[in-house]
Amino acid sequence: MKTKSKSVNILGIETSCDETAAAVVADGRIIKSSLIASQTKLHEKYGGVVPEIASRAHLEKIYPVIAEAMAQAGVTKDDLDAIAVANQPGLTVALVVGVIAAKTLSFAWGKPLIAINHLYAHLQSAMLSEDNLELPAVALIVSGGHTCLYDCRSPLELKLLGSTIDDAAGEAFDKVAAILKLPYPGGPSIEKAAEKGNPDAIKFPRTMLSPQSLDFSFSGIKTAVLYYCRGQDMKGEDKVDSMSRQQIADIAASFQKAVIDVLLEKTHRAAEKIGAKTILLGGGVAANNELRKRLQQMCNSAAPPKKLLVAPKPYCTDNAVMVASLGYHKFKAGLFADLTLEPAAMG
Ligand code: KG4
Ligand code: ZN
Repeated sequence: MKTKSKSVNILGIETSCDETAAAVVADGRIIKSSLIASQTKLHEKYGGVVPEIASRAHLEKIYPVIAEAMAQAGVTKDDLDAIAVANQPGLTVALVVGVIAAKTLSFAWGKPLIAINHLYAHLQSAMLSEDNLELPAVALIVSGGHTCLYDCRSPLELKLLGSTIDDAAGEAFDKVAAILKLPYPGGPSIEKAAEKGNPDAIKFPRTMLSPQSLDFSFSGIKTAVLYYCRGQDMKGEDKVDSMSRQQIADIAASFQKAVIDVLLEKTHRAAEKIGAKTILLGGGVAANNELRKRLQQMCNSAAPPKKLLVAPKPYCTDNAVMVASLGYHKFKAGLFADLTLEPAAMG
């Protein structure tokens, strides 16, 4: 009789920005728990994440969140096979809280420690429910801090093809939302406003850089929105307060379309370059319905059609499921860290 092999339980810890998250995942895909303590309310009034506030809030929440994630999963320390933690990239003062918690528990409980790259973990979210990943894949990561294209040969083999030379896509959404005086965080606010807008109302620039370039630049479009609202010389009156809801909606929809056009064109170029069979989409901006829809259309109309794998909505923005899930692959590959592990701002 064949004996069923014991499942591998990984505790994932994520504190790279403004979410304190912990999760327990079995065998890389069975989500036993996922806890996220969001700090949105704390940063709202500053219009962006304040590193010191983030760090202090992580410190306050990290152990209760881990304890609750284990309780909800119904596991004790004895059931855990390893502890995975996002140690890069992100805000160093935020990452350090998760890293110290993970190292402490690893030492106290005698469990192996696994270091996770937060961006690779975002990609892992797109692969959560896929059994037959057809490779090679092009992976597009669009978050608040990063916009990257990767050549993906396995969950652990990623080669950077291109990235932003200035603002990240999510950062552009957040900054344009601030210009339009829409609520923080900006991405979901722009998406909501854009639903009632005309995406062809205003022709904002699409910065493609050179014809073969796989890099991104979003600062031009952000500046174009700013000039549109305040005049070319920035001396004009801020027109946003006197704009109708429809005008705001038109700006939001036109901006969103311009950003998506650029993301699609670069993803298409990358897919052609490596002969991708699959496109993977992850990161906070991957929660955007219009982006998901248009990328699906692009994949369907490719010859031959490509498979699109998108992170499920709850796992687009920062979470620890993606950390634990990628931790499983590193566990299987025997890729462990030790207690000298440090946080690193750059990935
Ligand atoms: O991945 P994430 O949670 O954090 C980072 O690793 O940066 O991404 C957060 C970013 C923010 O810029 C937020 O505005 C954006 O994702 N975002 C969205 C949407 N939901 C979140 N952008 C566009 N549309 C959305 N629905
Ligand atoms: Zn992230």
